[in-house]
Amino acid sequence: MGTFNERAEKLMEKLSEIADNNTEANMLQLVNCVTLDVIAKVAFGMELDLLNHSSPFPKAIETCLKGMVHYVRDATFEYIPWNRTFVNEAREACRFLRTTGAQLIHKRKIAIENGEDVPKDILTQIIKTAATEEIMTEEDEEFMLDNFVTFFIAGQETTANQLAFCIMELGRNPEILEKAKKEVDDVIGMKQEISNDDLGKLIYLSQVLKETLRIYPTAPGTSRDIKEDMMIDGVHIPGGVSCAVSLLLLNVIN
Ligand code: HEM
Repeated sequence: MGTFNERAEKLMEKLSEIADNNTEANMLQLVNCVTLDVIAKVAFGMELDLLNHSSPFPKAIETCLKGMVHYVRDATFEYIPWNRTFVNEAREACRFLRTTGAQLIHKRKIAIENGEDVPKDILTQIIKTAATEEIMTEEDEEFMLDNFVTFFIAGQETTANQLAFCIMELGRNPEILEKAKKEVDDVIGMKQEISNDDLGKLIYLSQVLKETLRIYPTAPGTSRDIKEDMMIDGVHIPGGVSCAVSLLLLNVIN
């Protein structure tokens, strides 16, 4: 919660600055910076401060995600000649994220080995999960990097887009904005540090956020590697393929 409070405060400072200068605020870009700052800090102990410093991270994440979506939609995408430039960019972006991950993992592993007091964050968890044996294999290293990239991407874009859609809809629905604002005023008031318990009391705001996800699902699909042929609800799914699954179908299965 400390990091969330601190980054929210920085966003408020930035918005005040923008308002004072009477300039336009690109809310998607701003919340993108904040969510990336938060996930980098709470999951991996990285200080990015993207509202005030530029960094190659946002672009690398965006490019990796675009590459992933292209690949899921069409496995032949990378072999089509006119996609070459983008494929190279996506490879470079993945390499950048993985190299950064490898450096962070290396630093944290040394700290753990030296018995230093390390944060109980996702990075420590990733290392502990992979290190089931004394000696780490190349496969374990790759597994850790897969998890690093997954958390970085999964924890950021979804949340940033949800917040941006929510802000857009609040702008379009002044009466809902008023109700949400009143709840925040009642629960938080002038309090500087918002606690985890406070979040549970923001019932209406939570409903607004869930409704935003319902109208604009920020992760509308996912994919599964199907090893063998399967029948799901009378539908034949051939084995040996990567299968894009809509969440609606996943809900039916679950
Ligand atoms: C609005 C916010 C979010 C939405 C809508 C969302 C949605 C999803 C969806 C639909 C999946 C796929 C589930 C599946 O394939 O079975 C997923 C997976 C995942 N999400 Fe999120 N997520 C959000 C935020 C986060 C955050 C904040 C984190 C981490 C801090 C996170 C970490 C993950 C991870 C690790 C996976 C598993 C990926 C895998 O199985 O390889 N997500 N999320």
